[in-house]
Order: sequence, then C-alpha cells, then structure tokens
Amino acid sequence: MSLIKFSNFHFRYKGNDEYALKNINLAINSNRFILLAGETGSGKTTLIRCLNGLIPQFYAGYYKGYVEISGKNTTKTSISELSNDVGIVFQNPENQLIAMNVEHEIAFGLENLGIPKEDIKEKIKEVVEITEIESILDKAPFEISGGEQQRVAIASILVLEPNVIVLDEPTANLDPLFAKKIINLLKKIQVEKKITIIISEHRMDLILPLVDEIILMKEGETLTHGTKDKVINTNIFENLHINKPKLYSIFNELKNRNQFQYDIPVSIQDAVSLLKTMK
Ligand SMILES: Nc1ncnc2c1ncn2[C@@H]1O[C@H](COP(=O)(O)OP(=O)(O)O)[C@@H](O)[C@H]1O
Ligand SMILES: [Mg+2]
Repeated sequence: MSLIKFSNFHFRYKGNDEYALKNINLAINSNRFILLAGETGSGKTTLIRCLNGLIPQFYAGYYKGYVEISGKNTTKTSISELSNDVGIVFQNPENQLIAMNVEHEIAFGLENLGIPKEDIKEKIKEVVEITEIESILDKAPFEISGGEQQRVAIASILVLEPNVIVLDEPTANLDPLFAKKIINLLKKIQVEKKITIIISEHRMDLILPLVDEIILMKEGETLTHGTKDKVINTNIFENLHINKPKLYSIFNELKNRNQFQYDIPVSIQDAVSLLKTMK
C-alpha cells in the first residue's frame, strides 16, 4: 500500500472556472525525499492542501476522484486524524506559530494529544537537538529570525512523529546560507527518521543533489513523477519554465551540441566522477 495515493483526482476552487488540479494520479512511498516542482500557479500548494484533507474539507470547491493517506480516504477522515500521518509546514511559518515561547510551541501539539508531561519532555529534547534550537527555547516566536522560525515550525511538526512531512517553499524568505542550512537539515531528518519528505522549492542547485524523486507539475497536472535521474533527463524537464540547476544547464547544453551523450549528473561529485571516466 502506498503512503499517499491520488486516483483520478480533480479539484476546482469555488468561484474559479478552471480546475486547479486535473486528473492527478500519484503513488508516494515511505522513506523518500521528494521535490515538487513547477511554475508558479501550477498547483503545488493546492496539491499539498490535499495531503491532510484541507482540500476538500476546508477549502470550498468541487472534486472528483479520491486521495488516500495510509489507506484512509481524505473525504471520510478528519483533518486532525490525517495530521497524525502528514505534517505540513506552510509558507510563512510565523502564521503557524502561536504559543508564548518556542518550547510551548513545540509542546502544544503533544499536550493536545494528552501525552504525559515526562514523555513530552523527552520528545521535545530529541527534536530540539536535531533542529539545533536549544538556545532559543525561551524566546517568543516574534523574537527569532526567519530561519529560526522555520526550524521551530519543523520541530513542532517533527515532534508529532508523522510519516510524511511536507514543506511549501520553506526557504522563500531566507537568505542563501540559511536556505542551505534548512535544506540540509531536512535531508538529515529524512535519512535519520526514514520518513517521506515532500518539498516545494525553487532553489534547484541546493535541492537537486539531495532528493530521491521529482514530481513535475504544470497547469494543474502532474507531468511526471520518478527518480531524479530519470526525470531530469526527460524533454518534459528540459521544456519546463522553472529555474534549472546550473550543473544541469551546462551538461544539457553540451548534450544539445552532441558533445555529451550520457545522463546529466545531479551533483558536483557525480559530474567530477563522470568527467574522470570520459577522458
Ligand atoms: N484559496 C484559493 N482560492 C481560489 N483559487 C486558488 C486558491 N489557491 C490557489 N488558487 C488557484 O489555483 C491555481 C493553482 O495555485 P497554487 O496551488 O497556489 O499553485 P503554486 O503553488 O504552484 O503556485 C492558481 O490558478 C491559483 O490562482
Ligand atoms: Mg504555492
């Protein structure tokens, strides 16, 4: 059974003529790091809203087909129950942070579940270590930087131990250094916890070397979903109007000039070993 399954799923927001999602079929498995890529307006955020039942339960509209999370139909399972499986960090995490201080923020979800105080302490300790936020535990959410807010939002979700964590453009408001730190942190969490992380992200140079799979979206459709090596070597990827990683652009140009006939490498290390074998 797939962790996440979309079957002929369509969704149109109330008041819109166009479907924001058109005939989505996807099967997502456990223990994967997945990039969700596509132009602005292609439906990435809308797809993410389907993963904990916000669509179709919270956003008004019309749907066809179904989405299942760990076998549970998202129209028949409450958003709070689905949130046990899928934790989502939306854009602008500051809107998601509501408690007096960071420690309470992370404890909040567990307290709501009625978990004993001692266990809460243990769980908080672990996620605080992973996300490296020991020094800001007693700060208020508005006192900390954007990068720290992002870490706190991730810790608050991680502590609930979901099978899937989804992040919608988590580095959009961060400078390149903090963006790199957050993306590396997510990779570390994915590998350590063996969960599935799905990330919508424009910083291709940073993210591509780390992900296992890519889902490409355009105009409400998923154009393709597969391992990154497979996806980036397709014409679909070449023709999509998104930021391409520099490494990709260089090798793709060589390919188009018939000066390179292998699969395009996805990291600097891969490129170096490939070039060594070619000489
Ligand atoms: N809350 C909403 N109400 C109505 N239309 C929306 C809403 N959110 C997104 N849309 C529309 O759905 C389409 C897909 O948008 P979105 O999922 O935000 O794409 P992306 O995240 O890839 O930029 C766009 O046409 C957008 O205008
Ligand atoms: Mg979006």
